[in-house]
Amino acid sequence: MSSSGLQKAVVIGLKGDISLQRTPIPEPGPDDILVKIVTAAQNPSDWMAMQRGKVAGAILGCDFAGTVHCIGSAVPEGQRTIGERVAGFVLGADGPGTFAEYVAVPAHFIVPIPQSWSFEDASQLGLTPFTALQALYESIVGLPLPTNPTTDAIPILIYGASTSVGIFAVQFAKLAGLRVIATASRANFGLVKSIGADEIFDYKDPEMARQIKDTTRGRLEFAVDCIANEQTLRLVSDALSDDGGQVAAVLPGVSTRANVKVTFNLIYEWIGKDYDLPWEFRATSDHRERGERFANMFSDLIAQGKIKPGPVRVLPNGLAGVADGIQYMLDGKVSGQKLVYCIADTVE
Ligand SMILES: NC(=O)c1ccc[n+]([C@@H]2O[C@H](COP(=O)([O-])OP(=O)(O)OC[C@H]3O[C@@H](n4cnc5c(N)ncnc54)[C@H](OP(=O)(O)O)[C@@H]3O)[C@@H](O)[C@H]2O)c1
Repeated sequence: MSSSGLQKAVVIGLKGDISLQRTPIPEPGPDDILVKIVTAAQNPSDWMAMQRGKVAGAILGCDFAGTVHCIGSAVPEGQRTIGERVAGFVLGADGPGTFAEYVAVPAHFIVPIPQSWSFEDASQLGLTPFTALQALYESIVGLPLPTNPTTDAIPILIYGASTSVGIFAVQFAKLAGLRVIATASRANFGLVKSIGADEIFDYKDPEMARQIKDTTRGRLEFAVDCIANEQTLRLVSDALSDDGGQVAAVLPGVSTRANVKVTFNLIYEWIGKDYDLPWEFRATSDHRERGERFANMFSDLIAQGKIKPGPVRVLPNGLAGVADGIQYMLDGKVSGQKLVYCIADTVE
């Protein structure tokens, strides 16, 4: 650890601007570990937090991969080890974030990184796979788990399968034995096929909803909308059975159809801490228990080699490249890839 007690970090300013600054290295609480970050991945929630501009002085960034640097006094013996390779996420821009050299995180809610995964790939084992799990198993009720697959090949639509959330949702749904109907732009059909989708439709085709309804013979009851705007929720609703169904939406929204239930959850719930960005939320022991249970299941699937990383694109200049990365995302250029920063590449 730096003898000055300071670290480089990407800090949000009063006007929602960001700059590379020296800030205090976070102090881990008794139940936390301090992680020395090797790579950090970018999410749409980063630019959303900047535009919200609520917490000036907070550090941007949710996803991290790195090594355990020190362990809080109340962490059970043997739960974590110094030097262990770990990944996960925090509620960035609400205090300590991951576009930094260190982050303190709860010791129970992380994913151990297998040796076969690079830190670059592992930086995506945070916000988006957990969001995919929450969509499939909390927002939707009644789907089989990857650890207890069905033989029924129940169809599910993963709308926006080339998003980072979608790349993991397709894999979990496939492991669960479901028949995975996916949508993506044509350029990403190969990617979506390679992670296990059974059928892929072009979301830009005006006939998409009808084609999906045809291929599922009007029996589609479940969908994850990885975009969840007014237009996509209408398309997804149109593809579902006339009897209705359940849609997990990654952002708040409603269906155009009365018998289609749209449910939105926020993944930060699973960290088991309170937050008020942008919705006030008070964590319960249930949230913590659910987060830990799914983190353990996900960690096992990763360790067993059952989950593939999505494509990553490492941006130059480490933390000094974040402003460019945010602009790249705002320009709508992210397509089937995760933007990643290597902290050691940081230039000042
Ligand atoms: N609820 C939560 O707690 C939570 C947590 C994490 C993320 N989210 C939200 O989930 C959403 C997805 O996040 P992400 O990180 O997975 O996104 P991402 O990977 O950055 O999304 C990029 C992808 O979006 C696809 N796309 C853009 N417009 C589309 C459309 N109209 N229809 C279908 N696909 C479209 C593009 O597909 P093509 O290149 O193939 O065109 C591109 O591959 C974001 O809005 C994010 O804020 C919510």
